[in-house]
Amino acid sequence: MLTEPVPALFGCRRAADRLSGGAHLSHALVTGGAGFIGSHLVDRLLAEGWKVTAVDSFDPSCYPRETKEANLAGCRARGWFRLIEADLRDAAALQSGLDGGYDVIVHLAAREGFSRSLAEPGVFQEVNVCGTQNLLECARTWGVKQFVFVSSGSVYGLNPRLPWREDDTELRPVSLVASTKMSGEALGHVYSHLYNIRFVALRLFPVYGPRQRPDQAVYGFAQAMLEGRPVEICGDGAARSDFTFVGDAVDGIRAAMDYRDLSHEVINLGSGRSTGLCEVVQALEGALGVAARIESKRGRACGLPQACGDIRKAQRLLGYHPRTTLQEGMYEFAAWLTGVSARSLLALHEALAQAALPGGLPAGARAPVRSVAPTPEY
Ligand SMILES: NC(=O)c1ccc[n+]([C@@H]2O[C@H](COP(=O)([O-])OP(=O)(O)OC[C@H]3O[C@@H](n4cnc5c(N)ncnc54)[C@H](O)[C@@H]3O)[C@@H](O)[C@H]2O)c1
Repeated sequence: MLTEPVPALFGCRRAADRLSGGAHLSHALVTGGAGFIGSHLVDRLLAEGWKVTAVDSFDPSCYPRETKEANLAGCRARGWFRLIEADLRDAAALQSGLDGGYDVIVHLAAREGFSRSLAEPGVFQEVNVCGTQNLLECARTWGVKQFVFVSSGSVYGLNPRLPWREDDTELRPVSLVASTKMSGEALGHVYSHLYNIRFVALRLFPVYGPRQRPDQAVYGFAQAMLEGRPVEICGDGAARSDFTFVGDAVDGIRAAMDYRDLSHEVINLGSGRSTGLCEVVQALEGALGVAARIESKRGRACGLPQACGDIRKAQRLLGYHPRTTLQEGMYEFAAWLTGVSARSLLALHEALAQAALPGGLPAGARAPVRSVAPTPEY
């Protein structure tokens, strides 16, 4: 078991005191804070003047440590920020490396990836289930009363009643990750019942945007397009999913941190629309200015054929209203991927369209793409 708590206090208490005028600052513990979604949440909280402690093991199985360090690069200057490098499987490291006193815990750390979960099923159970239990035990001993658990819409699995609703209890997962998320939700119910910890499970759907995990479909499609390779689409391309922009997902997570009604809730956080993979590729073509060559891979293992969450509960309980269109979100993603700002990318495409130049972006406008290219999974 990896046990390497390396506390490091980045950031500056004085800056945070100035922000608050010396008043009590709310303090959040964010697990997986160096990851794709977690680092965006950390940014949001620091911008709002929260104290933030992030826990992350910098697990290299999905993508490299340097990428995660880059995700957190801006945090050091932005207020009260503390990073603890620890593995959630190590209960003793959590208890000794963290000091409690948090107003809320947001739990995003997890192992992800369909093929990796088949290769290491035990590790996925240890991290996603035992790790969640270790954190709930910490919440209990510290007396933390608000726990937000980032779950997944994949728990609905083969349930045919789309869009999926939270009160539809027919959960038919078809991946190990989905089954660990179900276990995490169940553990949360136990702890909320026994120890009066408010537990909000958020079922997220495929999230995309800047800092995206390189093993996700949108990243894989974009990288193939930029490198002139065919975009490989599983099956006949009829699969549809609920692609959610990371800024919208963070809005929902942030609202769940303030949720104060029932002691246990399960809430879908999606885009509210079902999008076909070909539409995703078209949006990427617009954002990257590159035409895609699509190849259908019939033999390849596919994800869920259809995935879409009903978000009316999130709208009602959290005031959640995803605002980012697929095209806007893809511009943000493409800007990050290519290193060009979204606005200048848009202006460039408009200029190209006006001049009717063929072939999209000139080669010089494309920054080098990050070189990690595992097989996309969706
Ligand atoms: N990205 C999506 O499309 C999506 C969709 C649904 C649900 N989710 C959930 O959202 C959460 C965040 O996903 P993400 O896409 O940002 O993934 P990510 O891999 O970028 O972030 C997860 C972070 O957790 C850390 N981590 C992994 N194992 C750990 C351990 N044992 N101890 C401590 N830290 C550990 C990793 O180092 C990583 O930084 C996950 O729980 C994931 O299941 C994501």
